[in-house]
Amino acid sequence: MTYSLRGRLFIGLALLIVSTGLGAGLVGFRWAFDEAIETQDTILHQIGAIALNTRLPSDAPINAGVDAEARVFVEELGDRPSGSTDARSLWTLKDGLHIVSRDNQPWRILLRTRPDGSRFVIGQTTAIRDEIARDSAFHTILPFLALAPCLMLVIAIVVWQSLRPMIKLAGQLDARRSDDLGKLSLEGTPLELHPFIASINRLLERIHAMMEQQRRFVADAAHELRTPITAISLQAENLSQTELPPDSRDRLTALKSGARRTAHLLEQLLALARSDMDRMPEAPVTSLDRCAKEVVADFIATASDRGVDLGFEIIEPAAVKGEAAMLTSVIQNLLDNALRHTRQGGRVDIGVYREGAKVILQIDDTGPGIPPCDLERVFEPFVRGSRPTEEGTGLGLSIVKRIVERLNGSVTLENVPKSGLRATVSFPLVEQGS
Ligand SMILES: Nc1ncnc2c1ncn2[C@@H]1O[C@H](COP(=O)(O)OP(=O)(O)OP(=O)(O)O)[C@@H](O)[C@H]1O
Ligand SMILES: [Mg+2]
Repeated sequence: MTYSLRGRLFIGLALLIVSTGLGAGLVGFRWAFDEAIETQDTILHQIGAIALNTRLPSDAPINAGVDAEARVFVEELGDRPSGSTDARSLWTLKDGLHIVSRDNQPWRILLRTRPDGSRFVIGQTTAIRDEIARDSAFHTILPFLALAPCLMLVIAIVVWQSLRPMIKLAGQLDARRSDDLGKLSLEGTPLELHPFIASINRLLERIHAMMEQQRRFVADAAHELRTPITAISLQAENLSQTELPPDSRDRLTALKSGARRTAHLLEQLLALARSDMDRMPEAPVTSLDRCAKEVVADFIATASDRGVDLGFEIIEPAAVKGEAAMLTSVIQNLLDNALRHTRQGGRVDIGVYREGAKVILQIDDTGPGIPPCDLERVFEPFVRGSRPTEEGTGLGLSIVKRIVERLNGSVTLENVPKSGLRATVSFPLVEQGS
């Protein structure tokens, strides 16, 4: 079952606030209500004290300017029961505060007897007294009612802010390159997340060790196989110098090409393993244009054998961070592909130039290009696309991609209309002299 920690915290805290507020509000309301009623009784007593020595007219000045409903009435009962039934029934009550019914509504009254034996009654409808008390009690809880939404907002902000480091951490992990297994930093993270980060770091360490083991295994296996394959090639070469029947010579040719393909596979596997190797913390600054010139010089003979015009379209001095062997491997693989897919009479143009803070290596050919559905897939190991040439391992572009990404660059392939494939590699520029 999945649930949101944020939602839980917010709902929990909000419920706590609302229930505490409701409880406190109810108690506060009751208390303020009773206080207001008590105050009104005190007022009745004070008026009674005044009326004890003075006979107040029934429409006394105490009511001047007061709402008709809120008026306090004063009624003289005389010194013996007389007058209306209401007046007579009041005579039966003792001195003090009472609630009686008059004109079909409840009244709060105070009965007093003067020293001369005459009695009077002061009263007010309970409805108006309750209304006044409710109003004043409501005003006491009003600040809380206004504060509750503000408190909720503050809680929501605090909860959001407290859980933000977790989301930030997830973002940092997602933004990492797939081969970046470096430790997560504890800096700027809350203490509660430290055990979690430490666990992730231990896991990353284990994955790193496992990948390193696999890479070493591939490299060692490829390396060990290189010697016997070289020996087989050498023996096959020696054999081809001897006199052989045509049938055996055909088989020898097949053997030689098999050995050549296997040797190429081993070289590519070694290059792939090397591209995954832990880099030196500070890679040397290498001149990409010089590397490109050297690789082109090596390929000139192959290009002219194939009848392909190989040359530079633009070459500018450009320094990048990375070992020369790695950069050479990138150019070799891309150039090898371009030449292999370009027909006789075609062209392969190379460009090395600076563009803003980047160094661009561009290789254009006049071959058939790559079907759009294969453009991304060909970067995966052993994928040779839907139009592979007769020879190849499918590892060249994976080697290119891994090296380029390790050097913080990027590589893209695009089909240029009416031309062929364009491979563009971009590296961060290193200012010469820095
Ligand atoms: N310039 C190109 N023009 C057309 N297709 C290409 C080009 N470069 C690569 N490809 C396609 O991409 C596939 C993968 O290329 P990649 O370099 O990874 O492997 P490969 O060339 O088959 O083998 P290897 O490079 O190991 O000898 C190729 O088999 C080919 O189908
Ligand atoms: Mg290739």
